Amino acid sequence: MTNRSAPRSRNTAVVGLQWGDEGKGKVVDLLTAEHDVIVRYNGGANAGHTVEVGGERYALHLIPSGILNPGKRNIIGNGVVVDPEKLLEEIDTLRARGVRIAENLQVSDRAHVVMPYHKEQDAALEEFLAQVASSERGSLAIGTTRRGIGPTYADKVQRSTAIRMGDLLEGDYLRDRLRVICRLRSAELKALGVSAAPLDPELLATRFAQLGERLRPHITDTVYALHDALAAGKSLLFEGANACLLDIDHGTYPYVTSSNCSSLGIPSGTGVPGGNIGRILGIMKAYTSRVGAGPFPTELLDETGSHIRERGREYGTTTGRPRRTGWLDLVAVKYSAMVCGATGVACTLFDVLTGFDKLKICTKYRLNDGSTTDRFLPDARTLAQVTPIYETFEGWDEEIREVATRSSLPPNAAKYIAFIEEYLGLPIEMIGVGPDRRHTLVSA
Ligand code: GDP
Ligand code: IMO
Ligand code: MG
Repeated sequence: MTNRSAPRSRNTAVVGLQWGDEGKGKVVDLLTAEHDVIVRYNGGANAGHTVEVGGERYALHLIPSGILNPGKRNIIGNGVVVDPEKLLEEIDTLRARGVRIAENLQVSDRAHVVMPYHKEQDAALEEFLAQVASSERGSLAIGTTRRGIGPTYADKVQRSTAIRMGDLLEGDYLRDRLRVICRLRSAELKALGVSAAPLDPELLATRFAQLGERLRPHITDTVYALHDALAAGKSLLFEGANACLLDIDHGTYPYVTSSNCSSLGIPSGTGVPGGNIGRILGIMKAYTSRVGAGPFPTELLDETGSHIRERGREYGTTTGRPRRTGWLDLVAVKYSAMVCGATGVACTLFDVLTGFDKLKICTKYRLNDGSTTDRFLPDARTLAQVTPIYETFEGWDEEIREVATRSSLPPNAAKYIAFIEEYLGLPIEMIGVGPDRRHTLVSA
């Protein structure tokens, strides 16, 4: 089932199989013990990964979730978009809590920089789209995190207006580029209705060169760093940000983020070929959540949805927004597992489902013409038209947080898990029964 032939079997990827917030941070933190280098390959500070250890709660946005484990290397790969101010803030906050950050954190010199104007563009475009919403079709706004993710990746693809981490270390080059970029950006922001004064390239260049100096000890060629680690027999753990259904190519476009957040983003986002990865662990909640706009076939807009939100503390780690909640959609998860090449699954937040009389799992969609399908439809307009078809399960009342093994789960809980495994045709290797590192049932 899993390809465990040495040496690639020692490298693992952790990827979200839904619309994000599946508990990737917790799983990465757990798996860090078995790996040497933890690597982020996509996204930026739109991610919010929570790790709870012994009553302490950490929210990580740019720094890999391996950072809490001493003695491990953490790498922010070339595919990530880095907001240097946010990164330094995160470093300072973690250091203040006693986490050591020195040569154990490396940032790619080729990672693209999120500049202040990217965040302004992101927010201004969202406001503009919300205002011009036609009542018939609704708003075109995506409900982004406003962290400047889309505009930064757009500049990366545009090339001539991009700035990379390595550029922050070259003061004159940075100033020259910013003189041109600021002229263009000031005009674009004005067109979007932003009335602020034109951007000042000299001030920005000075500020970002200073940020670059502070980050200089961490900025390096991470592609060679990763290949050197592989050559030295070290094992890598790739930490996906966002999730497969938010992938720019394979998600519910256009309600997605701007990077390849499925496992397919790993090779381009790190420079490590995919053949090096033997284990791809897909992370899924025992139900579904989504933040921001876009289709969500199993969404519950009633009391049940609110109950899941409260029990699961479903409020964004990055923006604090209440998350939309609904029943588990296995059509969607199976699609993501296929695209990501998942070799196994972790089912998280299972404890949240305690206390329901009945539980539902979506196994098919009904289309407008009355036909049914078990295939996902990764296009927002089409997916918005499907009706979920459910299997119903008996619930259980026992709290399961202190359950120590899978075989000790209440019988109805065990049936729910067995059904998921059977449907996906993949082993459930971990079950999350609470937020702490120790609240995890691991299959032997
Ligand atoms: P990520 O973005 O995938 O890392 O997930 P988030 O950290 O944004 O959201 C997951 C939330 O669920 C966090 O508040 C975690 O502390 C919490 N969590 C993770 N696993 C479990 C679990 O098994 N049970 C419960 N109750 N909470 C969990
Ligand atoms: P983690 O890593 C949940 C969503 C946003 C929005 C869309 C685009 O914590 O699972 P963006 O700011 O990226 O342009 O927003 O994608 N989104 C996430 N939702 N978890 C995330 O990350 C997300 N990253 C982006 O809410 O709908
Ligand atoms: Mg999150």
